[in-house]
Amino acid sequence: MESKILWSSYSLMFLVFCSGAAAYDALDPNGNITIKWDVISWTPDGYVAVVTMNNFQMYRIITSPGWTLGWTWAKNEVIWSMVGAQAIDQGDCSKFRSNIPHSCKRNPAIVDLLPNVPYNQQIANCCKGGVLASMGNDPSAALSAFQVSVGSAGNTDRTVKLPKNFTLIAPGGGYTCGPAKIIRPTLFITPDRRRITRAMMTWRVICTCSQFLASPKPTCCLSLSSFHNGSITPCPSCSCGCQNSSNCVMKTPHGNVPKKVNKPVLRCTKHMCPINVHWHVKSNYKKYWSAKITITNFNYRFNHTQWTLVVQHPNLNNATKVSSFAYKSLMPYTAINDTALFYGRKSYNDVLMQAGAKGNVHSDLTLEKDGKTIALKKGWAFPRRVYFNGNPCVMPSPESYPYLPNFAGTR
Ligand SMILES: *[C@@H]1O[C@H](CO)[C@@H](O)[C@H](O)[C@H]1NC(C)=O
Ligand SMILES: *[C@@H]1O[C@H](CO)[C@@H](O)[C@H](O)[C@H]1NC(C)=O
Ligand SMILES: *[C@@H]1O[C@H](CO)[C@@H](O)[C@H](O)[C@H]1NC(C)=O
Ligand SMILES: *[C@@H]1O[C@H](CO)[C@@H](O)[C@H](O)[C@H]1NC(C)=O
Ligand SMILES: *[C@@H]1O[C@H](CO)[C@@H](O)[C@H](O)[C@H]1NC(C)=O
Ligand SMILES: *[C@@H]1O[C@H](CO)[C@@H](O)[C@H](O)[C@H]1NC(C)=O
Ligand SMILES: *[C@@H]1O[C@H](CO)[C@@H](O)[C@H](O)[C@H]1NC(C)=O
Repeated sequence: MESKILWSSYSLMFLVFCSGAAAYDALDPNGNITIKWDVISWTPDGYVAVVTMNNFQMYRIITSPGWTLGWTWAKNEVIWSMVGAQAIDQGDCSKFRSNIPHSCKRNPAIVDLLPNVPYNQQIANCCKGGVLASMGNDPSAALSAFQVSVGSAGNTDRTVKLPKNFTLIAPGGGYTCGPAKIIRPTLFITPDRRRITRAMMTWRVICTCSQFLASPKPTCCLSLSSFHNGSITPCPSCSCGCQNSSNCVMKTPHGNVPKKVNKPVLRCTKHMCPINVHWHVKSNYKKYWSAKITITNFNYRFNHTQWTLVVQHPNLNNATKVSSFAYKSLMPYTAINDTALFYGRKSYNDVLMQAGAKGNVHSDLTLEKDGKTIALKKGWAFPRRVYFNGNPCVMPSPESYPYLPNFAGTR
């Protein structure tokens, strides 16, 4: 009975989660990516702007190969030069004779540079290969920036025309962007903190995650086990695709297979998900119980940097001990305080390594039961929802959960 109810509330959440153009994510109500253009100087035929992208989302990160930012110029603007990023396509610059612009496209698509570019092509917070951490796991890395010098454009705050039709594309997740809006000019404080300067003009664009544009194919699944029952409840078969003779490998590939980040090399499994989250109920005492979370990477060609894991469980408001992962309550001040964000500790396990012996991270949780909480009856000890890097994990059906006897005595 209880598990049926849980199951239907879980499917309902699937619909609510980041759906439609005006996405609303109940677990991250203010989550957005804010793109700000600060005009830092006017030039004879346009302006120089610093563009910053702030990922204000709590747990959605942008992974390698990174973001692509696009827009449509209002008139016939060109990009003279860029620092810290580049336009993918120069477009048709044939009407320019001597000084050739960086891009003449009406709708340029911009990508970040890689970390190893020469210093004279970098600005602060650029050149991360388009990878953005989330506000929840690392606010200092949830920021990307580049500088653009625009020509054939207005060069006063009255004549400048804002770019239109912004698009933000990220691996596995599309974003919908609103129109550019002029806001109060940004203030900059000099490094010695003794002087404040201000942008000539500032506008901003807000982008929210759009399930509509995101890939509908799951990339993660959940499996379960319990100390009470020797059987493991596996991920549902074909959770992320079905195994066939050409889409996976049986064991670690040898040699220098060309690295195509976009083309995963998956280990063959019945679920065919690149990520498996396993929840094991380890022990159950009168006042405390514990669980072990293991995240396993099945992709031989991808390291997940700054991964995030979101788990909803009614008892996560009372986690008293969490080993090896960093942990925070996702909505600490609301009535529904049952969802936790887990992420790796810096230079310890914040990179989930490619598939193989090192391709997993794990943590032990100790949770305190409150007096009213029923013993660990069927299904109660298992999470209600799990997201890896913001993508929902496919759950086993509640009927297949390992059976936990009602009396749930101590070990
Ligand atoms: C975008 O995120 C920022 C930071 O959380 C928040 O202040 C702002 O209200 C958000 N904007 C929208 C439109 O959600
Ligand atoms: C906005 O951009 C998208 C993608 O580049 C394009 O398909 C669409 O036609 C553009 N709309 C306008 C009004 O330029
Ligand atoms: C194997 O599966 C992939 C997608 O997972 C599909 O693109 C491909 O056509 C399949 N190949 C065969 C031989 O069925
Ligand atoms: C993952 O990281 C390890 C250690 O830094 C490195 O040896 C390996 O090449 C990386 N794999 C990929 C696919 O980038
Ligand atoms: C929510 O849970 C967190 C983490 O256990 C806790 O620190 C916080 O006090 C809780 N807030 C409320 C309102 O219960
Ligand atoms: C957490 O556990 C303590 C101790 O049992 C209990 O007093 C408290 O009510 C619990 N908090 C919540 C939010 O359930
Ligand atoms: C373990 O759980 C499975 C699935 O719910 C159930 O079929 C089986 O009877 C349980 N085994 C024991 C020993 O409780």
